[in-house]
Amino acid sequence: MMIIVIIITITIIVAPIMAAPKSIPSQNFDLPISKCNKTHADQNVRWLYFFDDPDRIAPDNAKSFEQFCNQTNQKELYVKEYARRCLAKFPRQVTSLLMFGIIRKNRQFCSKTKLRKEMIHAAHCLNTIKRKGSKCFSRAIQDFLIIKHMAISGRVGKTCWYVIFVYYALEECLVQQATETPQSCSSEDAQMIENLIEGYTGQVVSSICQNYPKSHDSCSKLLQKKEMNKLKKLIINEMNKTYSILPPLIDILDSIPP
Ligand SMILES: *[C@@H]1O[C@H](CO)[C@@H](O)[C@H](O)[C@H]1NC(C)=O
Ligand SMILES: *[C@@H]1O[C@H](CO)[C@@H](O)[C@H](O)[C@H]1NC(C)=O
Ligand SMILES: *[C@@H]1O[C@H](CO)[C@@H](O)[C@H](O)[C@H]1NC(C)=O
Repeated sequence: MMIIVIIITITIIVAPIMAAPKSIPSQNFDLPISKCNKTHADQNVRWLYFFDDPDRIAPDNAKSFEQFCNQTNQKELYVKEYARRCLAKFPRQVTSLLMFGIIRKNRQFCSKTKLRKEMIHAAHCLNTIKRKGSKCFSRAIQDFLIIKHMAISGRVGKTCWYVIFVYYALEECLVQQATETPQSCSSEDAQMIENLIEGYTGQVVSSICQNYPKSHDSCSKLLQKKEMNKLKKLIINEMNKTYSILPPLIDILDSIPP
């Protein structure tokens, strides 16, 4: 039942995005199938989230902000084109869903003066907590990889909850880094970060599981410690080759049996 809901909602949400690519300022390009590069797409998604790319610096003035919007456009285009040319239908839909929030939020930031000011104001904070923020992302990737390796029987019907759990833990972790660094981060900056991450991830969360409560206090652990440690060992190599939350998210949703 839940699987059906996932697929239906993905289709509803994704269809309009796929149908209207022209609204992106177009320097369209065509990716030959021979150039499909999963690592490159994965690294582009990592760049699009603010924290976990080593070369990514938040724009702190009008000029670097414009550059940020240009680069963002290019990265978004690549991932969309990668999804269109290189992926099967379902992974393509999951990717589009993930990209939907990112593209929409970035477009807001790049077109609205007030939001632009907020981001420039928060740049110092974003750059200061980058290293810690990147740990929040590693943790989220690790959790997703662990979920992916859990026995199917153990997560059918719970996938939704698990995905939400990881997302909220990520958001909470990032906001916490800001509130714990008051020398560089004002409460408005923390608020902006929360807004940004919610915008980037909200679509995935709300489409996969509508009406899920935001609170996850009652379930603060994914698994028993022993089982968790076993799975952590199993994913060490994979951790090393995974740059963003996109690949494990696709694998998790793709592995649910029909
Ligand atoms: C794929 O992309 C990665 C990262 O950009 C790059 O290092 C690698 O050389 C690319 N692989 C191919 C076959 O082009
Ligand atoms: C961003 O792109 C526009 C149009 O492609 C170009 O005119 C502008 O110079 C670029 N800005 C930067 C900072 O790269
Ligand atoms: C990848 O794994 C090796 C050992 O297996 C480790 O030395 C290296 O630091 C890892 N690289 C990253 C980026 O985590």
